[in-house]
Amino acid sequence: GAPVEVDISGLKVGEKMTVEWRGKPVWILKRTPAQVAQLPKLDSQLADPQSKRHPDDFTPKYAQNENRSIKPEVLVVVGICTHLGCSPVDRLQSGPQPSLPSDWEGGFLCPCHGSTFDLAGRVFKNKPAPDNLPVPPHMYLSDTRLLIG
Ligand code: FES
Repeated sequence: GAPVEVDISGLKVGEKMTVEWRGKPVWILKRTPAQVAQLPKLDSQLADPQSKRHPDDFTPKYAQNENRSIKPEVLVVVGICTHLGCSPVDRLQSGPQPSLPSDWEGGFLCPCHGSTFDLAGRVFKNKPAPDNLPVPPHMYLSDTRLLIG
């Protein structure tokens, strides 16, 4: 499939947009500074916090960092659960929410079998999904133009 060019200039802090790439939904989330700061604190609760599993398929080199991203605030992931392929739903706000721990810090919930992912797409421990949400190959053409694929 052809690469997809995306203009993210209109994406506000705290917002997520979805674009289609190779028939898959790719999420682009602009995280708040507080959300970025939270990420390292979750490591002990995550199955693969450093994204060491399948690095070539799931996390390109330039995203093998704590934020899983090129720019700390901008997350780019494929929005398909690594268990059986359902589409997780946004639970971006922190605080008590149905089906989530009371200390939830924001992320994504797969409605099919309850896998939960943080705001870097990293899967929590003891969930059916074996892997973090994949980071697709991507690069910045300019500060606000992204090429996916
Ligand atoms: Fe997401 Fe099973 S498909 S938890």
